[in-house]
Amino acid sequence: MKEQNLITAAWLSGSDHLPMSPLLLGGPGVGKNRLVYELARTSGNVLYIFQGHEDVTAEDLACSVRFSDNGNMMMDYMLSPLVTAMINGGICFIDEIGKIRPRALALLVSVLDERRYIDSTLLGERVYAHDGFRFIAATNSADINLLPEFILSRMKPLIRVDYPLPAEIDDVIREHFKGMNGEVNRLLDVFWTLWHSNARDHQTLSVRDALNVRTRIQTGSP
Ligand SMILES: Nc1ncnc2c1ncn2[C@@H]1O[C@H](COP(=O)(O)OP(=O)(O)O)[C@@H](O)[C@H]1O
Ligand SMILES: [Mg+2]
Repeated sequence: MKEQNLITAAWLSGSDHLPMSPLLLGGPGVGKNRLVYELARTSGNVLYIFQGHEDVTAEDLACSVRFSDNGNMMMDYMLSPLVTAMINGGICFIDEIGKIRPRALALLVSVLDERRYIDSTLLGERVYAHDGFRFIAATNSADINLLPEFILSRMKPLIRVDYPLPAEIDDVIREHFKGMNGEVNRLLDVFWTLWHSNARDHQTLSVRDALNVRTRIQTGSP
């Protein structure tokens, strides 16, 4: 909730200031994606997701081209989720932005500063962002050092998503298994007993890990 409020505040804009572009940072499975989905749901904005990986090229961030399903030697130009959000005025979420190479990320620079446009070689066009366009990205903590300074300096605020407290894990599991009634407490007891006897010192527990361990207890797999 704290993080959601921070992002909502960062996205405010006015006559003399543009919305900021927050960067979510945290371990795998702590709930970065979920936070963005919640934000889109509660704000009623359309969410466009771009999945970052090592093979993304600069042009992928703007537009790609492929042979058309209609045949007749036609080509389809497909706008990326980023450009679609810029045109329609929705939220663009780049997940795992730290995995995208700096050479490709260079195209984002003009999107993230006061210019708010993107140049596409394939389209031969400059696309300006709609007033309602909002940007957010996430990276695993381990990849933050791979992000070039020209992107990091434009992505503010940096929002750390922490590993949940045990009480928060309990809440998530209870919510997830509302239908089990009294059985949930027994499940949680088994879960925490197993966790304490097997976890290494200071081992962190993400929400995803907790949900997975629960599945293994239920199915009896190791
Ligand atoms: N606060 C929460 N309440 C319920 N489920 C959660 C919560 N946070 C995370 N999860 C669940 O944990 C899993 C991992 O979350 P995800 O957002 O994909 O993590 P990340 O993007 O940080 O790797 C998903 O199944 C998600 O639905
Ligand atoms: Mg994620």
